[in-house]
Amino acid sequence: MEVNGPTGEDAVMASARWWSATAAEYIAEHGDFLGDADLRWCPEGLTEDSCAFLGPVAGARVLEVGAGAGQGARWVARHGGDVVASDVAEGMLRQARIIAERTAISVPLICADARALPFADDSFDIVFTAFGVLPFVPDPGRVHREVARVLRAGGRWVFSTTHPMRWVFADDPDPDHLRVVRPYFDAPPYVEHQDGVVSYAEFQHTMADVVGAVIGAGFVLDDLLEPRWVPGNSHTWGAWSAARAPFVPGTLIIRAHLP
Ligand SMILES: C[S@@+](CC[C@H](N)C(=O)[O-])C[C@H]1O[C@@H](n2cnc3c(N)ncnc32)[C@H](O)[C@@H]1O
Repeated sequence: MEVNGPTGEDAVMASARWWSATAAEYIAEHGDFLGDADLRWCPEGLTEDSCAFLGPVAGARVLEVGAGAGQGARWVARHGGDVVASDVAEGMLRQARIIAERTAISVPLICADARALPFADDSFDIVFTAFGVLPFVPDPGRVHREVARVLRAGGRWVFSTTHPMRWVFADDPDPDHLRVVRPYFDAPPYVEHQDGVVSYAEFQHTMADVVGAVIGAGFVLDDLLEPRWVPGNSHTWGAWSAARAPFVPGTLIIRAHLP
């Protein structure tokens, strides 16, 4: 579904600037939680090591989109995948280079909008992202179609994203403050401006939008998760908190494949 608000191009340019400018701060705040070479799917704390939702990667040609500092891609490299990490924000890729040096796990880094990937058709066996790209574009169907283009037949597409129900509540980790402040249907995007230019944008996508866009791009939906809070996780991330997590879902994770 198309929404009123920034165009895809404006949103992507805003993301490139925003995530570059805030990358160091983001890693300072969340880097330890994410791990340098781990695939952590969501603020609830679920890791690929504990759920094996991405599935086997050894020997596979793998692409991470919206990779940020490439923690997930480094996890894939540790597990024998031939992986490339891509992100639209140069500043995030700069953080990836710093972590690569520290860990001595280096993966190829490509600066690219996931809506227009610089790869040939049928290049990858697996594409994945943990909270990259999808909440930040008005047209996620375009991302799914682009992922379908670069995946070979039978390839897997696995992504985590903001749960469609999360959007309706205030951005507040205290469950006592849970009340509906935004409509679920036809919600306008959250947009910030600087000097009249879009500086940050996030878009609401309903469950039907998400599933419809995946299927519409030609994928077969295999499984989905609404992760519970992992016991012992004390990292509060925006509105995601141990106290709030039992009441409302925060994350949606989907696994699909191309026929
Ligand atoms: C919340 S971060 C997630 C990054 C990483 N997976 C993590 O867990 O830290 C979102 C990432 O999506 C990237 N992003 C946003 N829009 C994008 C687009 N159109 N194409 C590629 N990357 C994009 C941002 O630059 C940012 O690095």
